[in-house]
Amino acid sequence: MSQMGKCEVISLPKIEDQRGNLTFIEQNRHIPFSIQRVYYLYDVPGGAERGGHAHKDLQQLIIAMSGSFDVVLNDGFEKKRIHLNRSYQGLYLPKMIWRELDNFSSGAVCMVLASNLYDENDYYRDYEEFIQAVKETR
Ligand code: TYD
Repeated sequence: MSQMGKCEVISLPKIEDQRGNLTFIEQNRHIPFSIQRVYYLYDVPGGAERGGHAHKDLQQLIIAMSGSFDVVLNDGFEKKRIHLNRSYQGLYLPKMIWRELDNFSSGAVCMVLASNLYDENDYYRDYEEFIQAVKETR
């Protein structure tokens, strides 16, 4: 399967209640990896773009905890734009996906669950270098 074929919006469990809804995520059950790190983007100014890199090994789940934004995916062969705006949906990203985040609504919070600790050596920050690596692993 292509790397793009592995990307999917996962519907997370949602316990509906008049007092407010509840969603939970269990590692290796609702998502196909163990969670080593959680980070989040917030106070994103209008028009700003985040991301602009790929990971050599890291898997992630991206959730719009509040508000909305777009994630533009590119596996070196095809491109897809996915709009996230539900706190019970997570976008699963395998390794080797170039991603850009844009179109943030005001008050948007983007939470990311990651399969590893932060490691700058796991990043492709140069697009041409990423494309070269995709070609080499074909
Ligand atoms: P980066 O991954 O480039 O952010 P984004 O993809 O959201 O645009 O990270 C921005 C900065 O934050 C960079 O200097 C690395 C640092 N950082 C950490 O120290 N730990 C982390 O877990 C993350 C995600 C980033």
